[in-house]
Amino acid sequence: MKNYLSITDIESLPKWVKEARSLKKNPITNKDLGANKTIGLLFFNNSLRTRLSTQKAAMNLGMEVIVMNFGNEGWALEYGDGTIMDQGTSEHIKEAAQVISQYCDIIAIRAFASLTDKAKDESEEVLNGFKKYATVPIVNMESSTGHPLQALADAITLAEHNTKDRPKVVLSWAPHPKALPHAVANSFVQMMQLQDAEFVITHPEGYELDPNITKDATIEHDQKKAFENADFVYAKNWSNYSNYGMVLNQDPDWMITKDKLGDAKFMHCLPVRRNVIVEDSVLDSQQSLVIEEANNRTYAAQLVLKKILEDLE
Ligand code: CP
Repeated sequence: MKNYLSITDIESLPKWVKEARSLKKNPITNKDLGANKTIGLLFFNNSLRTRLSTQKAAMNLGMEVIVMNFGNEGWALEYGDGTIMDQGTSEHIKEAAQVISQYCDIIAIRAFASLTDKAKDESEEVLNGFKKYATVPIVNMESSTGHPLQALADAITLAEHNTKDRPKVVLSWAPHPKALPHAVANSFVQMMQLQDAEFVITHPEGYELDPNITKDATIEHDQKKAFENADFVYAKNWSNYSNYGMVLNQDPDWMITKDKLGDAKFMHCLPVRRNVIVEDSVLDSQQSLVIEEANNRTYAAQLVLKKILEDLE
């Protein structure tokens, strides 16, 4: 594998999930694979799980890890071709990506959507800028439109807790006071499209995700109806997509409650706002898988890094 930019870069999700579960049983079995190799983790945005689990995954593979908070410590990068750089940006992605490639064997990047400029966000200028100019593999640690390490961890978690041939999995929008990106929901949808499951998306009317991502997925605007006979409920807020980045709905009736959940397992990528997205009694119950999802972030990242290391020349 050269880069891991999207969950669709995986050639077989069932095979990867099986391999990740095997790695989880013996996490240091490939301790020599990353010897004398360095990964650079570049954060343009905040993180807890991604930062620590990717670092842990690299350490399990014997790699050295460099972490940089690019957002507030790096030079402001320019991405435009031919720009006269007499304004706010100090360094061009062309130099930055090539320079970092001399220090690192793999570069992993977190760069969220601005939520103010849809076209710019969808161009993935940071991720694609590094992909274009770096001379080493690139890993997406959450970009404007996708969070494929999270989706792989979610696939592992679903496999660990599924007891049916064809489970019912519901992705539910839930309220949030701030404008949040679409990345986690997008990658979850794409991951579910690689699964044999009954998959339903529920959200208030007008909160459709990008139709190029959801394609022919079932969308049910009645949350209660969507939750009927669900085996897994995956909650996530996203801001409005058509009125790009706007918060047009904070209806508390969309919060996930124990009563609504029934016997379903609860999933969320974290961080989560208690009693806004989901009530305490769900998170504090045995039905919540959120801590295991976070644990599986390590094995998702470790599998991705292992695949890349195996293909390094
Ligand atoms: N789920 C997730 O990506 O968590 P962080 O934002 O804390 O990394």
